[in-house]
Amino acid sequence: MTGLLPPLAHIPPQIASLSDYEAYAQARVEPGAWAYINGGAGDEWTLRENVAAFTRLPLRTRVLRPMCGASTALSLFGCDMAAPILIAPMAFHGLVHPDGEAATALAAAATGSTLVVSTQASQPIEQISAAAPGAPWFQLYIQPDRAFTQRLVARAEAAGYRALVVTVDAPVNGVRNAEARAGFAFPPHIRAVNLEGMRTPPPSPEGALLFGTPLLESAPDWQDIAWLRSLTRLPILLKGIVDPEDARRALDCGIDGLIVSNHGGRTLDGVPAAIDLLPAIARSVNGQVPVLMDGGVRRGTDVLRVMALGASAVMVGRPILHALATAGALGVAHALRVLRAEFELAMALAGCRTLDEIDNECLFGNPATS
Ligand code: FNR
Ligand code: LAC
Repeated sequence: MTGLLPPLAHIPPQIASLSDYEAYAQARVEPGAWAYINGGAGDEWTLRENVAAFTRLPLRTRVLRPMCGASTALSLFGCDMAAPILIAPMAFHGLVHPDGEAATALAAAATGSTLVVSTQASQPIEQISAAAPGAPWFQLYIQPDRAFTQRLVARAEAAGYRALVVTVDAPVNGVRNAEARAGFAFPPHIRAVNLEGMRTPPPSPEGALLFGTPLLESAPDWQDIAWLRSLTRLPILLKGIVDPEDARRALDCGIDGLIVSNHGGRTLDGVPAAIDLLPAIARSVNGQVPVLMDGGVRRGTDVLRVMALGASAVMVGRPILHALATAGALGVAHALRVLRAEFELAMALAGCRTLDEIDNECLFGNPATS
């Protein structure tokens, strides 16, 4: 007897926004897994800042502008999307719902969104892309075993993935305090199945903490990005770029897009909120490639703010897992629909008919130029 509630088969009217999913999800997820999903690194300052920073960006309304023919549609790397809202790559959807990533992929396809499937998905990447006729993207963690990494990229290409999101901000990851306190351990049936068969790294030297361990010694560097570029014709985005010089270096490597992200506050605590990091990256990239952002996006008005500061699209993380835990594919589809409805309303009240019309004039006081 776990005392956990089963997933819902309908969406109660009490769920009107993404954050409303939180309490429903918590009642359906083991406490340890809940800590793993919702926790952040260190004192969780960055985690809190990601959300709080949006409240420091008040919006500006413009009235009486024509809204006839308004649209949120866009095309990114040849993928048509209903709105500039993607699902961020997150490990192990199977932790919160038995249908796992396949359900999330189905919901994304049904709503014209795009799922970025994690290297650490709980289902085979072929099964996930087959579950939905959408155009998922694949998130790659470059593995210590580079030959295995190369085969994983080839598998993603063969399975119809349309872009490669290479996460560069988490070469190593500590156990977060919340999950340590909750005594969280992965249940045996939840595994990184797509990494099975990989050569296991040698044991860490006696007494080593992090420095000198095989994982850190074999962490990827810029040369690996150039290597990856030579391996695949898929568009490559680097996720976790927060420094303008790194952004320019990525462009020099022939990278096709950047994702401004602090990993949802899960890696280096103390990094500023993602939305506060975005303007400098957007300036440095100067429209050469699309810039996306994730971290703390919870409302359609947040999507408007991100777009106003120069992004082409946003990705949403934890609320999607909350919706999946609550009601499977139905929950995720509903959450995406709610977010898009809020975004349309925000665009209409800001007087923006198309995504191109969203600029820093939508923000009160123009923080991008100050
Ligand atoms: C993540 N994130 C992540 N990122 C990544 O590139 N690969 C991964 O496997 C994971 N795994 C993962 C698991 C869980 C449970 C969470 C919550 C997050 C980070 C994710 O892509 C994204 O950057 C943040 O979640 C965005 O912040 P919000 O929307 O959760 O605030
Ligand atoms: C995390 C890793 C999987 O954030 O990226 O938990």
